[in-house]
Amino acid sequence: MNKITNHMPTEELQRLDAAHHMHPFTTGDEVNAKGARVITRAKGVTLTDSEGNEILDAMAGLWCVNLGYGREELAEVAARQMKELPYYNTFFQTTHVPAIALSERLAQLAPGDLNHVFYSGSGSEANDTNIRMVRTYWAEKGKPEKTVIISRHNAYHGSTVAASALGGMSGMHAQSGMIPDIHHINQPNWWAEGGDMSPEEFGLARAQELEAAILELGEGRVAAFIGEPVQGAGGVVIPPETYWPEIQRICDKYEILLIADEVICGFGRTGNWFGCQTLGIKPDIMTVAKGLSSGYAPISASIVSDEVATVMNGCEFNHGYTYSGHPVSAAVALENLRILDEEGIVETAGRETAPYLKERFESLGDHPMVGDVRIVGLMGSLALTPDKTTRAKFASDAGTVGFMCRERCFANNLIMRHVGDRMVISPPLVITKAEIDTLIERARTALDEAYEEVKAAGLWVAAS
Ligand SMILES: Cc1ncc(COP(=O)(O)O)c(C=O)c1O
Repeated sequence: MNKITNHMPTEELQRLDAAHHMHPFTTGDEVNAKGARVITRAKGVTLTDSEGNEILDAMAGLWCVNLGYGREELAEVAARQMKELPYYNTFFQTTHVPAIALSERLAQLAPGDLNHVFYSGSGSEANDTNIRMVRTYWAEKGKPEKTVIISRHNAYHGSTVAASALGGMSGMHAQSGMIPDIHHINQPNWWAEGGDMSPEEFGLARAQELEAAILELGEGRVAAFIGEPVQGAGGVVIPPETYWPEIQRICDKYEILLIADEVICGFGRTGNWFGCQTLGIKPDIMTVAKGLSSGYAPISASIVSDEVATVMNGCEFNHGYTYSGHPVSAAVALENLRILDEEGIVETAGRETAPYLKERFESLGDHPMVGDVRIVGLMGSLALTPDKTTRAKFASDAGTVGFMCRERCFANNLIMRHVGDRMVISPPLVITKAEIDTLIERARTALDEAYEEVKAAGLWVAAS
């Protein structure tokens, strides 16, 4: 077997990649024809590719490298743990120190009485866990008919069959179908769907869809509501201020478990340790992943309340993964949390970095193609529009213009993602003010170039 290294020519790596590697959320033929971008190293907020380009990663990978790249402490902890105890499971009345220590730390960090942790390997698996957990919880409480989980259109809760059914991405539903007893209500996306309502009226109306759904489905059948405090993959949809208090009121009134999917929002992303603190939500279960280990090792968790844990502890939970609480991942996560805390990274991100990023990001609002700028903490988005005054969509297929803009970002050594025709950022929390200036400068250049391209292609047309 030939040794494949960073030092091989890019074309050769791309050829081998195209021959044997299938990429997630990618059209294989397209990437194989063009050649995938090969990332070779990373430090802080900067990626280096096989051509030596230095790219500012304004997405923190997939919204996960909160700590930034290249922290050797995490590598050292992983190596130490691998030598001491590379693997053992937490099934059958067994535990180990990394799982014990991480659970204690998460119970300290999580708000309220969210004091108990069930581990999985990814955000998707944790949400699968939540589905089984809430149904088991209600069965244990003598209400086995409470099985329906209410979620939202355009939500993202993961890619397993159950988590994608729980999410609201129609393209995913089309490829794998649904599972029983998942119900979707509309999302609180005022810019795209608010019509003539004020954001406050719209937020309230969208939250009240939850009450209508509970009444329609029957109170006795609904087990839980799940929502991301701020929808991430749906395009950084920051709900109007009226939204979450009304959702909370309805969950409390009908005794529906509230699951906050904090896979993106957790660990500093919204300016506090958890999105539910920023948005004023009191969940019964929180899903966490990504920033838990800053992406250095795969790990996720469902952090549950005293009450949920008390009920669950009364039965055998027929659920778990080989890698639930994996000792290396748990040790890495613990070290990540230590650094985020001791270096004041979450605090500084909320207090200093977020206001600066907000000011600079909002300055892009004067660009002719930018209609809406939304940002909370270190996650933000720009809606591209051919007419700011009417919040018009482009006549072209959703995502055509966004894709063009994303390509111009790449060409300018900036990673921004597009969700339809919205451009999204979620940089590492350690981004400096100088790096924010670079991010904004490159984003503006990319917008200028995309604007010219869109006009030249005859796409500067509003949908009727
Ligand atoms: C809110 C949310 N939940 C769940 C997931 C799924 O996490 P994973 O990709 O680790 O399975 C994601 C991934 O982006 C997410 O954003």
